[in-house]
Parts: sequence; C-alpha cells; structure tokens
Amino acid sequence: MQIRFADHRPEGDYALVLPVAGKDRKTLGSLGPGEAAANAALDRQRFDGEASSTAELFFDDSGTVRRLVAIGTGTSTPAEAAEKLGGNTSAKLLTSGDTKAVIDLGGLNYDADSAARVALAAALRSWRYDRYRTTLKDKQKPTLTEIVIVGAPADAGQRYTSRWEPVVVGTELTRELVTEPPNIIYPETFVERAKAALEGTGVEIEVLDKAAMTKLGMGALLGVAQGSIREPRLLILKWNGAGEGGQPTAFVGKGVTFDTGGISIKPAQGMEAMKWDMGGAGAVVGGFKALALRKAKANVVGICGLVENMPGGNAQRPGDVVTTMSGQTVEVINTDAEGRLVLADAIAYVQKNFHPSTIVDFATLTGAILISLGHEWAGLFSNNEELATQLLKVGEESGDKLWRMPLAEPFDRLIDSPIADVKNVGPREGGSITAAHFVQRFVDEGVRWAHVDMAGKAWSDKAGTTYDKGATGYGVRLIDQYVADVIER
Ligand code: BES
Ligand code: MN
Ligand code: ZN
Repeated sequence: MQIRFADHRPEGDYALVLPVAGKDRKTLGSLGPGEAAANAALDRQRFDGEASSTAELFFDDSGTVRRLVAIGTGTSTPAEAAEKLGGNTSAKLLTSGDTKAVIDLGGLNYDADSAARVALAAALRSWRYDRYRTTLKDKQKPTLTEIVIVGAPADAGQRYTSRWEPVVVGTELTRELVTEPPNIIYPETFVERAKAALEGTGVEIEVLDKAAMTKLGMGALLGVAQGSIREPRLLILKWNGAGEGGQPTAFVGKGVTFDTGGISIKPAQGMEAMKWDMGGAGAVVGGFKALALRKAKANVVGICGLVENMPGGNAQRPGDVVTTMSGQTVEVINTDAEGRLVLADAIAYVQKNFHPSTIVDFATLTGAILISLGHEWAGLFSNNEELATQLLKVGEESGDKLWRMPLAEPFDRLIDSPIADVKNVGPREGGSITAAHFVQRFVDEGVRWAHVDMAGKAWSDKAGTTYDKGATGYGVRLIDQYVADVIER
C-alpha cells in the first residue's frame, strides 16, 4: 500500500473517507451540497459514529459519482481512534473496487503523531499474502493501492516515515515468516529470509550451525532438533545504534518452525497451526528490521533458536536427560515441551557472549496461556518489578497487550526432577507458570528478565484493527516501543 500525505484532496477518482466523531457530524460539512443527502443516508443506516462503525454511500461530487465511507471515531483517545480509522479504511476498501482512498482528517484536530498513526494502521491492515493463491477471482483481489491523507498537520508525513513506516515494514516481515508454510520455512530458510530482509540495514548477523552448537554444548536445543532432518540454527542479530559501551538489551525468540510434539506427538486436529510456533523468533527479526530502519539509538541483540520438532528414529525420547549449555541437566518428560528447551540454550548463549542487562524472550510457549488469557493478552512473567511495569506500559501503548502472571517458589518445586537438575514439565495446573519457571532457571543472577508467552497472539482467527485474520505480527510493536520508551527515552 502506498501511503502519502497531501495538502488537499486530489483530482479524479477516489473513495472519500470521512471520520465522524459520535453524534457530531460536522465533518460532513465538507461535502457541500451533498451534505443533506449524506446525513439522511447515515440516518437510514442507523449510523451512530461510535468507534469503528461504518456506513457507505455514493454521492454526486460535482459531477463524479463518489463513494463515501463514513467511519465512526467515537470518543476514544486520539491515538486509539486514529488507528481504528486507518485500519477500518483498509478493511473496508481493500477489495472494494476503488483503487485510491482519501482520508480527510480536517476538523479532527489530530496532532502529527495521531495523524501518522492513521497511516500506520491503514498500512498494517492492508497486508495480505497471496503468494500461493493462483486461482483468485478478480472480485477477490485487492484493488486499493494508494491512500492519501489530507487535513493532517504539516509534519505528520515526516512523523509517519521516520517513526511508523519502519514498524510497518518490520511487521510485514514477521507476518510473512509466520505465514509461510513449514515446508518452506525451516531453520535454514528462516535464516536465509532474515538475512535477505536485513541486508543493507546495518544489522549484523551471525549464524551458528549444528556443529558450532554441539561445540558449545547446547544439548537442550540440539535434543529437540535431533528428530528432524532439518538442521537447527541459532540466528544472532546485533544492532549497535548507540555506539560502543554499555550492556545491551537482548530479545530472544522461540523459533520452532514446526512443532509436531515429537515423540509426545500432538493430535492431528489443528496441528497445521504449529507452523507459527516460530512466532517469537519472527517477532525478533521483524523488530530488528523496524529498529534498524528507524535507526534506533540503542544497542540490542536478538537471538532466534531455530529448530523443527519432529518424531523420527533419532528423535529424543521422554525420559532422556540432556545437558544444557549452562551445565544444568534436564530430564525431558515430554518432548512437546520443546520451546523451553530451545530458550534455555539461547538464553545461556546470550548471557555468556553479550552480558545483557535485560533479556526479554518471546515464545508461543504454552497452550495453557490461551486458557488463562484467551486471545486478548500475552502472558508476562518477570523477575524484576521495574521491568514488568515498563513492559506493561509499553504493552498498552503499542497495542501488543500484556497481562502479568505470577512467579513463585512453590511452582519452581514442581519442576524438580528425581534424576536431573530440572524436568521440562510440571503438572497440568499452572502450565504457563511452570514453563516460565523452567526458563527462569537459565537466567543468571542479576539479569533483568521477562518472558512473553504469546501463544494466543501470534495468529488470529478473526481480523483485528491492524491485522486481517492470520499472522498478527505480535511482538514487533512491543519490541519497537520498549526500545523507544525505555532505552532511547
Ligand atoms: N507450541 C506449543 C504451545 C502452543 C499450543 C502454542 C497451542 C500455540 C497454541 C508448545 O510447544 C507446547 O506444545 N506446549 C505444551 C506443553 C505441555 C506438553 C506441558 C502444551 O501447551 O500443551
Ligand atoms: Mn510443543
Ligand atoms: Zn512449541
């Protein structure tokens, strides 16, 4: 989607989008002689201007038959209303037949950032992935290619390109990685895609193959990978936007490119969803793209633990004991609790090599978090009150919402093993909490750590404000906003 800001409505064909704030329809005044008919049409559709309500009509615009989309903005905060307005514009017009839309913000008194967020949400909501659809009928194909925003403050366009367009591009990258099928994206190809997408951005990339990880003693990650013919990879991203010195912040992503469960195999029903079990790693890659494109003044490192979890003659067995890079041993009770095994070695690696002050990991880690929080929030676990508070706020601001979950010693006891230092599952109850405790066992003393269990967020069966159904790109905005609010300030 091409998005631009302009001083006035252009000439020629376009659909006009007018925001309407609740009962106050003063923006319709810009229709001139068309106002009365438009008002009547909105009444007939019982349009009330509530946030996200829409109504459509055609009017005679000095001789052109023009589509008008009225979009309610309700009375929510400008930033929120702005994103709904942009998102609804794309949702409504993407396959409408119109190729151009003009959103007129005149009369809304939006500041530059709110106006830029209209563009952000419009761009995010218009993303779709038709690569494998060869028989789409013309009527199903997108027509909208350009959105022009008028009536915004003069610096809104600049605000969009410098602050939000990078986030759009990063989110699109994440969605692509998450959407691609598991025969196309596996550890090696995930790395190839990430490399291609980050080339020229200034992100430094390092990749560890199986031999390198074997040398480092990453028995937990390698144990998961050993049932697959696809070799594992550890992808390391470095962005030094703040010059030398200081401890970096690390973002670690679970990148299970397909999770069959391994020998503890999952039921067939819905297993195809496990292609997006690399959503955490996908968020890290997209997050780095956004940070690099907007030249964030921060030193950050990203680690993606990439494996495919398959059953097979060489797959690990329930009961196996593996030795992790940290030296701790793990009794693998359930081979389907593989994400935590991958995170254990990825976290040990980043601590040993980069000494981060803060680690935030992103993982589609447990089905149990869906039972707790549904699809509204990702679960947040943290060993540090300040970090938890910062992240909760960033979650609200970015729209990648978080809900804090507890960590407590009694849960930690539930993963003690009779034969090794720790076992990889506890009882069913509190499954997300014991999973977080498992990860915490690999976090060094003094490191600020947070774990984001995003199993309910990477994929959505229904459209949201800024995404269609499918891959949401969850985590990119959280990473971006954390860096902006907490590191760059
Ligand atoms: N990738 C899954 C978690 C998951 C489940 C993500 C559903 C998205 C939707 C994870 O590897 C897993 O299998 N977890 C198990 C843990 C259990 C074996 C303790 C689970 O949640 O069932
Ligand atoms: Mn699993
Ligand atoms: Zn998994």
